[in-house]
Amino acid sequence: MPSLEDKIRSLKKEKDALILAHYYQTADIQAIADHVCDSFEMARRAAQASAKILVICGVRFMAESAKILNPGKTVLLPAADAGCPMADMIQPKDVLALRQKHPQAAVVCYINSSAAVKAVSDVCCTSSSAVHVVRSLPQRQIVFVPDQNLGAYVAGQVPEKELILFPGCCPVHHDVTIHDVLTARRAHPQALLLMHPECRPEVLAYADTIGSTSDIIDTALHSAARSFIIATEQEIAEGLKVLAPEKEFHMVNNRFLCPDMKKTRLADIAESLETMRFEIKMTPGEIAAAALSLERMVETKVR
Ligand code: 13P
Ligand code: SF4
Repeated sequence: MPSLEDKIRSLKKEKDALILAHYYQTADIQAIADHVCDSFEMARRAAQASAKILVICGVRFMAESAKILNPGKTVLLPAADAGCPMADMIQPKDVLALRQKHPQAAVVCYINSSAAVKAVSDVCCTSSSAVHVVRSLPQRQIVFVPDQNLGAYVAGQVPEKELILFPGCCPVHHDVTIHDVLTARRAHPQALLLMHPECRPEVLAYADTIGSTSDIIDTALHSAARSFIIATEQEIAEGLKVLAPEKEFHMVNNRFLCPDMKKTRLADIAESLETMRFEIKMTPGEIAAAALSLERMVETKVR
């Protein structure tokens, strides 16, 4: 009997599918993927994909973004209930109220949001492009939604802008405390502390480097340091242990797990490819309304 991996490989070929997985997916899912990406890279690869079917191993906003950026494709989300609690914290009416209050401001929306919220925003960003997107806008006032922590980090990097923040957050990153950081530092005094900007500002103050998942991976792989404390989802540390076995990777706490990112199973991918189940369905109107802000994001990114 063929393994699940073999079944997925042959279905992928037969149906002309491309599998994109986020770095927070479990190792078995990453191993079967064509590309393992951060949120920006996933959006870019989805936009440029030529395969007929895109299988998104991540959470719903990633699959919706793939559909919006490449609407002619069939986009599958094998774990239909994989959502993002931060994306659920904001509704279009919240953005419209902020627009009314700050009519001169541009609205920058983190990609971790629904298509309806993207539709009422001017431009999207990911954690790897947020600073560049905000800096490149002509407006001085920027309404930044929904992540207050990423917004506060961007405000510090782009002091010439006035950022108006919405009180959303990623419950997984927001949970890291100063106590966690000090405990990890005491246990590993030589280690560099690499943090994701979804963590709280008072905790980020202790970081040696702040960056997106792909920035954290690049820094750890290319730094001369031998030991690192990782302050983002635990799968990043697990992946780094495989990529750089000569280095040491320690988690900042033992609670750093995104339950939604762990919902995808190999069996779900096989079933999804076999039956086309959990296709992302959006009306042409919904796609068109959200497309502009996402397309601007893909165009503005500079590394
Ligand atoms: P990045 O992949 O942009 O670093 O974002 C992390 C994240 O929380 C995805 O949901
Ligand atoms: Fe959402 Fe946080 Fe999970 Fe990313 S890690 S998908 S922001 S809950």
